[in-house]
Parts: sequence; structure tokens; C-alpha cells
Amino acid sequence: YDQKVDMSQVEKGKGYYIKYNKLAENIDIVRKRLNRPLTLSEKIVYGHLDDPHGQDINRGVSYLKLRPDRVACQDATAQMALLQFMSAGLPEVAVPTTVHCDHLIEAQVGGVKDLARAKEINKEVYDFLATCTAKYGIGFWKPGSGIIHQILLENYAFPGGMMIGTDSHTPNAGGLGMIACGVGGADAVDVMADIPWELKCPKVVGVELKGKLSGWTAPKDIILKVAGELTVKGGTGAIIEYKGPGVESLSATGMGTICNMGAEIGATTSVFPYNDRMGAYLEATKRGDIAKLAKGFQKNLLPDQGAEYDRHIEIDLNNLEPYINGPFTPDLATPLSKFAEEVKKNNWPDELKVSLIGSCTNSSYEDMSRSASIAEEALKHGLKVKAKFTITPGSEQIRATIERDGQMQTLSEAGGVVLANACGPCIGQWDRTDVKKGEKNSIITSYNRNFTGRNDANPATHAFVASPDLVTAMAFAGSLTFNPVTDSLKGADGKEFKFSDPSGIELPSRGYDPGESTFAAPPESLKEREDIAVAISPDSDRLQFLAPFKAWNKEDPKGCPVLIKAVGKCTTDHISAGGPWLKYRGHLQNISNNCLIGAVPEGGKPNELTNLMTGETGTVPQVAAHYRDNGKPWVVIGDHNYGEGSSREHAALEPRYLGGTAIITRSFARIHETNCKKQGLLPLTFKDEADYDKVKPATYVDLEGVKELAPGSEVTMVCKDAKSGEEYARIPLVHSFNAGQIEWHRAGSALNLMAAKAKA
Ligand code: F3S
Repeated sequence: YDQKVDMSQVEKGKGYYIKYNKLAENIDIVRKRLNRPLTLSEKIVYGHLDDPHGQDINRGVSYLKLRPDRVACQDATAQMALLQFMSAGLPEVAVPTTVHCDHLIEAQVGGVKDLARAKEINKEVYDFLATCTAKYGIGFWKPGSGIIHQILLENYAFPGGMMIGTDSHTPNAGGLGMIACGVGGADAVDVMADIPWELKCPKVVGVELKGKLSGWTAPKDIILKVAGELTVKGGTGAIIEYKGPGVESLSATGMGTICNMGAEIGATTSVFPYNDRMGAYLEATKRGDIAKLAKGFQKNLLPDQGAEYDRHIEIDLNNLEPYINGPFTPDLATPLSKFAEEVKKNNWPDELKVSLIGSCTNSSYEDMSRSASIAEEALKHGLKVKAKFTITPGSEQIRATIERDGQMQTLSEAGGVVLANACGPCIGQWDRTDVKKGEKNSIITSYNRNFTGRNDANPATHAFVASPDLVTAMAFAGSLTFNPVTDSLKGADGKEFKFSDPSGIELPSRGYDPGESTFAAPPESLKEREDIAVAISPDSDRLQFLAPFKAWNKEDPKGCPVLIKAVGKCTTDHISAGGPWLKYRGHLQNISNNCLIGAVPEGGKPNELTNLMTGETGTVPQVAAHYRDNGKPWVVIGDHNYGEGSSREHAALEPRYLGGTAIITRSFARIHETNCKKQGLLPLTFKDEADYDKVKPATYVDLEGVKELAPGSEVTMVCKDAKSGEEYARIPLVHSFNAGQIEWHRAGSALNLMAAKAKA
């Protein structure tokens, strides 16, 4: 397996080869060191270690430094990731990277018109992404190409590979035996800039599949059942590794669906062992050479005999029923046979308003042809859908293939509306008009998430998640209490009929139709790329070049006002809110107007502070900017687990942009702590947690010991009353900086340091 096989068919000749040799070598080193059999997840993860000889490996405890094979970004998160990468001063990305335009397309009337409108509305973002990707050697998938995870499965995922992506459903690629993890932009920037990626050594949950899927039960039902067992938190810090004879009854895309929704139980990722079904999918997507290579490498793409798992679950597919999960949470799992009863018991609206199939989770050729088989039968009985019915193809390739092969026509004839190849209603990009805001109603989707308001911003919408088969069948009944396994429908002739079991075609017999060309490869040579100007208009309110943060002034910070003493939970959402603010993700100045507006100040109301310099009342961003503009670096005092939630780098960028110097807390969420360090902030913690109570909100602080900052050193916070100026406490603080991270602080940010090194 030392032949040169390209990682992807769209990158042929670029020198991006699959490195199974290196993987095998690392696995051997680690197996000898640990002296025990390895799970499949461990093989792939440890196979990508930066230092397999020296790395401390302890599942659930140590932090691994890894070298992923690829990076992928969707258009919403790519904006800040690329802006940051630009400020690193590097000429090109260090690992193959792609950007996918899928999140900004709103579903309104149907695919063609919606796409045209989105191209107009988001022109400046798309122009920026197109020019920036071309300049730095990144592959660009234009709007209309499809949803990131479907495109990754079709073109980039490969068995035994490792990928990070700036989207939580990146684990979808586990359907082709890849370890693929969702990360924040800061992690993506590190890997693009050749810095190892840090991951807490994952635990491994083994899911043994026995028996065979049949009838109305689909791959989706496996993950719906697992979600019910493990709940939304049950996979945290773990990889879900599927195995057992039941795997053979699943298509590669079916395995992708299962891995995709592992995100709903908080799993680091999910993965399947290599099998011939993956091989068949690779062949069908023009990657027969990878299938051959993987076959020869198969022993490394399966768990070792006797490998130990942190937890074990068994599912017998022979007895598995279809499931419907929801409303409002993906782990409320109800088997189909009990669902009608639950609908009545809980007073969920029985009338089904909208059925939505497709998305990154469930839009394979197999999914679409199974849905079409149901629609065809209904059409034969003279029926059209009773509920509204939308179809979201996952990619242009799927759209073109189902158009050519007739499934799209069948679904449309039955009353379905084909939406753009994009996220659309799955991410709330849905101009829904059939119900009013606040009106209680039910919808069912073959998507993955169903949190309150996710699809249509209506908190009264009861969203259920199921296989595309059930979603389609229910569209014809128009009722949530319809069970296609046991219930009949009345045809146009008045006669009752029952649906047959859905049947699908795994892979198109005539091959996939690629459809319209939607990929832009970056220019080959560095020379050509040098001349490309990245398109950002100076008066854009959505995009802004990042100016490098100032380097540390080599002094201990003195006289710093406490901007806010936050009480209780302060998540990344409290620090950098989402919703309407997402529009400004590529514009640090504008998005900074949401900085800490959700945090609760001691003795006060969110987003209302007294400016210690003027005595006036202002919003958090206003007061912060005033301090900054008047030469007063400020600090935040935070409670426990400050910065928990997402890995959103804006939560560290914004305080730094507004002039923050230190964030002092009882404890930090680790990712946020690292993000703060990367942006040149000082994340510090109280040596004695109880000292948090000593700090009065109206305080100026001096930080002694920053000049001597060293691994394990202490910093003293000297607190002075804002009115009297009298010192009232000297509080010892600790930090977790290592020597390399201290360099980030001195340079002003990790990117500044990188830029300085690139120049040298
Ligand atoms: Fe898009 Fe929904 Fe998937 S938002 S990436 S289709 S989870």
C-alpha cells in the first residue's frame, strides 16, 4: 500500500496522496507501546499522531496532537477562518482544504429561483470566498454545488483518513471509514497553517449491530434508537464505533447517515469498519483505485480482536422498528408502533403541515429512490401529498442523477417541491408562510436536528425526525398518527390500500450524472495565485480584513477596569450571540457589538453597565470600546466553566478586539481558554475559587507577574476600589500557559507569531 493513490479524484496530480504507509507505521508504534489490541477508532486516531513515540495516550484524559489529512469549511464559518488564515501571512494552506457554499441559501419558492436570489444577496461573501480560496490554494464549491457533507462523501472522504471540518455534522464521512470531526474556525486555521490539531484522547463506545435491516426500517432508525439510549450528552468525548455482522446490510450512504447524526448525541465522531459496500460506493464515485488500496489495507481498517471499549451497546436489526424522534430534541425516541399513542397522549398537533426530505443527513440516491417508490405507489392510487412536501438534494450530482433517472419527476408529480442543493430549512433558511409565528403545528423531516425553532424560527413548531421513508409516507396521510406498516389510506377510487415496503436502488446503474460543473480548483502555481486580490469592499458591513492585534507592551497591565463581573453561566453564546449576528461573522468590528451582551453582571441586568471612567450607563460593547479608545485595557471576571458551549472563535476575538487584556475566572471551558490564548488574551484563574467573591464589580486591577509569565508561574491581581482608589485585596491567580503559548501572548496573537515566522 505504498502506491501513490490520490486522496481525491478532483485533486489528481496535486501530490495529495493517501498515506497508508505512515498510518500503518504509527499504528505499529502505538500498539507496541500500549501493548494491547486497538479499536478501529484508536487505529485511525493514533495513526495520525504528530509524535507516536512520545505522545501521552490515555483515553478520556490526555490531549493528543494530531495531523489531519484534510480540512473542510462551510461558507458561514469559513469567513472568519479564512480571514484569520490570511493574517498568518502564509502563501498557501499546508493541507488540502475545501470551502462549500451551502448555508446561505434561503428556501422560498424552489431550487432555481432561490439559488439565483441567494447569489445576489450573498454576492460579496461568495466573491470573497472565491478569491480567497483561489489565492491560498483551496478548492471552492460554488453555491448550488450542494451540502458540504454530501460533497465530502462523494469526493473527499476515504477509509482510514482524518478530516476536520468547521461544521458539526462533519462526522458524516465516517460512512466511508474516516475519522471526521466538527471543529471551530481556530482549529481549522491551525491545521491549514501546519500546526497540529489538539484533541482530548477520545473514549470509544462500541455499537454491535446484529441481524439485517428490512421492511420499513432504514439506517436512520439505528441512530434514532442509539440517540434514545445515549441521549444528547451520552456520546460526549467519545467516538461511536459501529461493528458486527449487521454492518453488511448497510449501504455506505446509510452508514453516512448514522455517523452524521452521531453529532446529536455529542459524539466526537462516529465510524464504520471498511467493507465492500464502501468499496462499491467508492467505485461508483470514480474512486476505484482508493477501494482497491483500502481493500489491501483492510486489516488496519477493522478493530483488533479483543479490543476494549469504554461502553458497549448491542442492536439486533432483525427486531429494530422504525423510530420517530422529537419534538424539540433528537433523543426523544418513540418506536413507530407507539407513536400515534404518544401524539394523542402529549397533545402534539396530529395534522402534519410539512414533510421535508433530503439534507446532508438523508439525500443519497438510495434515500431518494426509496422515497420515490412510496410516491409512485401513492400516485398509482391517484393520491397526491396532503401535507406540503419538500425535497432537498444533497448535491448537484444527486439532483442531476435523480432528474435523469425519474425519481425527481415522481416526487414532483406527487406534489413535492424540489429545493436548492443546500442546507435551506435544515438551518432555518426557510421563508415559511403556511403558519404564523407562534402557531402550534407539526412538521416531520429526514434531517438531523429538531431543537426549538431550528427549522422555521417558530418556537411552537413541533419538529420530528425520521427516515425519509416515513417522512414521505406521512406526507400522503397528512397525519402524524398514520403508521404505514399497519394503516391503510383511501385511494382516489375510494378503495383502501396499504403501502408496500419501500424499495430503493443503492447506486445508480448508469452511474452518477455530475450535473452542472460547480467546482473551482485553485490555480496551480503559486505565481498565478500571488496576483489574485482577495475581494473585500471597504464599505462592506459583512466582511472586513483582520488587522493584526498589537504585540504585548512588555509591561504588567495596570489600572485595568473590571468591564463586567459575570455571574453564573457564561457560555460562548453569552459572549458572542448567534441568531441575527451570524450575518456579521466575517466582520469583527460589527459582530463585536454583541460582545458579552448575554452575560449577567453581578447586581445588574445583561448588557447594561456603568462606565467606571465616566459614571455613565452603557451597553457592554460601548463601555468596552470606550475603555479601549481611552487607553485602558480591561478585564472580565467570570464564574465556573466560563466559555463553555461551542468552539466559536469570535468569543475570544471580540473581547480582544474591544481592548480586553485578561479574562479571570473560577474555571474555563478548555477550548475557550485556548482560543483566548491564541488571540493574545490572558486567561487566568483564581488560585482559590472563593476569591471570586472578593472582587467588587467597581474595581480597577493591576496584574503583577505578567512580565515574568512562565509555565506554572503565578500572577497577582491587585484590586483597587474604583471610587476611592484604595487597594482592598491581593489575589493570587494561576494559568495554564505552556512556553509556546506564552510566545503567542508576547507576539499579540498566535497568528502574529506565525506571520513573524513566515516572514523570517
Ligand atoms: Fe446543512 Fe443541516 Fe447539514 S445545516 S450541513 S444540512 S445539518
